[in-house]
Amino acid sequence: MKIYNFSAGPACLPDSVLEASSRATLNYKETGVSLMEMSHRSSEVMELFSNSTKRVKTILDVPSNYHVLWLQGGASTQFSMAPLNLLPDDGIADYIETGSWSTKAIHECKKIGHPSVIGSSKDKNFTYIPKNLPQNINSHYLHITSNNTIYGTQYNKMPEVLNSSGYLVADMSSDLFSKPVDISKFGLIYAGAQKNMGPAGVTLIIIRDDLVGLNYRDMPTMLNYETHVKKDSMFNTPPVFSVFVVNETLKWLEKIGGMEKIDIINRKKAKKLYSEIESNELFESPIRPEDQSLMNVPFIFSNRSHKDQSFLNFCSLRGLKTLKGHRSVGGFRASIYNAMEESGVDALIDAMQSYKVS
Ligand SMILES: Cc1ncc(COP(=O)(O)O)c(C=O)c1O
Repeated sequence: MKIYNFSAGPACLPDSVLEASSRATLNYKETGVSLMEMSHRSSEVMELFSNSTKRVKTILDVPSNYHVLWLQGGASTQFSMAPLNLLPDDGIADYIETGSWSTKAIHECKKIGHPSVIGSSKDKNFTYIPKNLPQNINSHYLHITSNNTIYGTQYNKMPEVLNSSGYLVADMSSDLFSKPVDISKFGLIYAGAQKNMGPAGVTLIIIRDDLVGLNYRDMPTMLNYETHVKKDSMFNTPPVFSVFVVNETLKWLEKIGGMEKIDIINRKKAKKLYSEIESNELFESPIRPEDQSLMNVPFIFSNRSHKDQSFLNFCSLRGLKTLKGHRSVGGFRASIYNAMEESGVDALIDAMQSYKVS
């Protein structure tokens, strides 16, 4: 039976990527050595990093005044690293609170500078994206979480930054590489790899050149973007294998046709699933329709007394795994990242239509 893994992250990866990864585990490029055993200073690994960076720049159409970095510590480390590098002691940064991850980003920023929470959807359990918010004119940047993995909301249009010297900082952990994005609107983008890119262990950073080396304070060396820009992400031992898997995923994306094509595919999958949720009397979406995520699709029983576990068991027997909603939302969540095949969405829809409440 074909298994479909709807996990929110670490998430499913394309078969071709997993196959290439297993080959690289045993014998990297006919060297007789596993990639895991190779020095990051070897020509093979240097070439891998340079190719991976080039691929990111080409696929996302990254302007020439941006750097691409491969760091460790997950997106969570970026919650601190962003303000440490970008915000002076007395500086203000605007933050929009759209779920647990942005709450954590705000929490970390408080230890460093002054986050001003200009909008929050906490009042309705993060089921919408607050828009048209007032901004501080002296704000250094506006921080958003572009896709809220837990709650299933997503910015369909990025907010404009009103301060002309300000810029967007975005946690794009769960939607980078899922649709075209105008990088020039952002000063900093960060994303943990474990949704649309590869395994956990590497965090992709895209940072505008003039924001590197601001050095507002004396920072730990490893937390300074300048350290990693100067050393091409090789200041210390980088997560080579994770970068390899990302590079393979990007090759797969290129073959599909890049951002425009994957966007069409993702919209088609999401549309099918949301239509089913809307038309099936058993289920409903807790999310405001215009803010529904194309990546993480939460849904609940319309009648809350139905047993979630019973539907989860029913799905599991059909090979549909990891559909349990996050504990703060309940119900179900289907994460349908790039690598989730349309046939997986069809199989889920079939299960939703076939399920009989006992
Ligand atoms: C939007 C978002 N931001 C941040 C994180 C935290 O990422 P990490 O575990 O890489 O620190 C996650 C993890 O799921 C996420 O979905």
